[in-house]
Amino acid sequence: CGIVGYIGKNQAAPIVLDGLSKLEYRGYDSAGMAIFDGSKINITKSVGRLKVLQELTHDGATMPGNLGIGHTRWATHGAPSDVNSHPHFNEKGTIAVVHNGIIENYLPLKKKLESKGYHFISETDTEVLAHMLDYYYKGDPMGAIVKVLHRVEGSYALGILFSDFPGEMFAVRKDSPLIVGQSGEGCFIASDVPAILKYTRTVTYIDNQEIVRLTPEGLHIYNVDEEELEKESVTIDWDAEAAEKAGYEHFMLKEMYEQPKTVTDTISPRIRKNDIVIEELGMSDEDLLSVRKIHIVACGSAYHAGVTGKYVLEGLARIPVEVDLASEFRYRNPILEDGGMVVVISQSGETADTLAALRESKKRGFKVLGIVNVVGSSIAREADNVMYTWAGPEIAVATTKAYSAQLIALYLLALKLARVRHTVTEREFEGMLEDLGRLPDQIELLLNNKNRIQRFANRYIAAKDVFFIGRGIDYAISMEGSLKLKEISYIHSEAYAAGELKHGTISLIEEGTLVAAVSTQPSLYQKTISNMVEVKSRGAFVLAVTCEGNREIEKAADYVIYIPQTNPFFANSLAIIPLQLFSYYVAVGKGCDVDKPRNLAKSVTVE
Ligand code: G6P
Repeated sequence: CGIVGYIGKNQAAPIVLDGLSKLEYRGYDSAGMAIFDGSKINITKSVGRLKVLQELTHDGATMPGNLGIGHTRWATHGAPSDVNSHPHFNEKGTIAVVHNGIIENYLPLKKKLESKGYHFISETDTEVLAHMLDYYYKGDPMGAIVKVLHRVEGSYALGILFSDFPGEMFAVRKDSPLIVGQSGEGCFIASDVPAILKYTRTVTYIDNQEIVRLTPEGLHIYNVDEEELEKESVTIDWDAEAAEKAGYEHFMLKEMYEQPKTVTDTISPRIRKNDIVIEELGMSDEDLLSVRKIHIVACGSAYHAGVTGKYVLEGLARIPVEVDLASEFRYRNPILEDGGMVVVISQSGETADTLAALRESKKRGFKVLGIVNVVGSSIAREADNVMYTWAGPEIAVATTKAYSAQLIALYLLALKLARVRHTVTEREFEGMLEDLGRLPDQIELLLNNKNRIQRFANRYIAAKDVFFIGRGIDYAISMEGSLKLKEISYIHSEAYAAGELKHGTISLIEEGTLVAAVSTQPSLYQKTISNMVEVKSRGAFVLAVTCEGNREIEKAADYVIYIPQTNPFFANSLAIIPLQLFSYYVAVGKGCDVDKPRNLAKSVTVE
């Protein structure tokens, strides 16, 4: 999850270790480094905290040398283990690689390399890079790197050492962050500014498909045609704390801004030539056809993703879905019948109730699919199959990007089932793939509208109660919008199915009460407008979140936020963005500890 490298006048290992320690906040499960000692590359790596690596190397003293790369790993392909830790290396030990990101086509590349006699010792996608570099290396490191770049798909930031070139270090990136820095003492690479802030404030941001060659004296940046580029460096004036958040005020805001990437990363490995391929499901088309009922079990926001999943799975694939809170499911002696499939959703993969629900289902002989963010977590290990959300580590207690990734995983599952069961036409399917592909840019657009939402949020800092209403998927969106607001701003808030209002809830509406009405579903649009009119006529201030073009809503609402047009089944992914921003700015305005709200934990490992 973090990479650091140094070449220069000083000992590399202590600088690499120090840099890695500055990236610890990003979360990781193992750490390692490769240092060139003047004649060969030495590698030390281990699962566990950075402390283990510090102890193994006596704070770097046992690994002398002026050139080195290091890595903290957040497992993606292959569970956390010593052998899966980075750096990875070729069989001769003459090339070492650290990698952030995911190589999507590593399986066919691995097969090809195996057929050429290469042996793999880890389960990682990264090891492919080490052997590929070896395969294409004919005395020219740049040439080998370029050949590899042309063949890999996915995202990467790489740091590379060649023992034949002891005075050089190489780095390259695509869709994973990479910066380089320079000082009178040498040159640095890092995935993030805090790692090198102590040594230099002169930093250059590397763009996609750029290759960097670093020497003790300076650095050179090239494009894939190996032409040297002129790039401006910038002077970083952040303090260490701001640097961890990449200049954002809070991790929550940073993570909200990572959502376009999270969504892309969760979709793209599963789309192949106009089809959805989810190998991790471990189910053939026949297996999928035999599914007669789906039980979704989760807690908190993951449960809200599950509620959305119910509407999407039932709507698209016409399979009945039950959604349960894990703490309820495990004690209600649930009825699971043949053809039932259990899906547990969890960011951390450690939530005690969700894990217990998984075990309960397995005990009854049911296969469990986990939709999980943390690779190697308990749920990931115990589920029969795991579909990972590629959100990366999430630090803010209130989830944003992991929730968005969970939604995507559920859409993909629903579309896959729908295709196999022929409940959508080819044209509808293709149209929906296109809509999915547009989501990242649309989310970006909504995030860029943050100032308007901030101004609106500032008016509600003193609110006592806020209600969220919606129907169908809009009800599911309301549940998550309401939870976001109450968990970080401590304002009492509830979500109601809009049609249920008249059965009691409407008595809570007073003059000026804020009601956020979510209305993205065309078939329910008029119905929700009626509910908006009902609350407005009783004094509520109505904020509407709806799709572009629904101008009529302005008659029933006091304030409108428009989201771009998408397939109604995917509307949650867009409508949740302004609601996240609203909660965030209300909490900031109130001076709350946004990233660590009182009484809450990121991962709840007790019942
Ligand atoms: C905690 C967190 C929530 C999260 C829930 C489920 O309560 O504060 O944000 O949604 O646990 O966590 P999981 O890791 O299983 O998704």
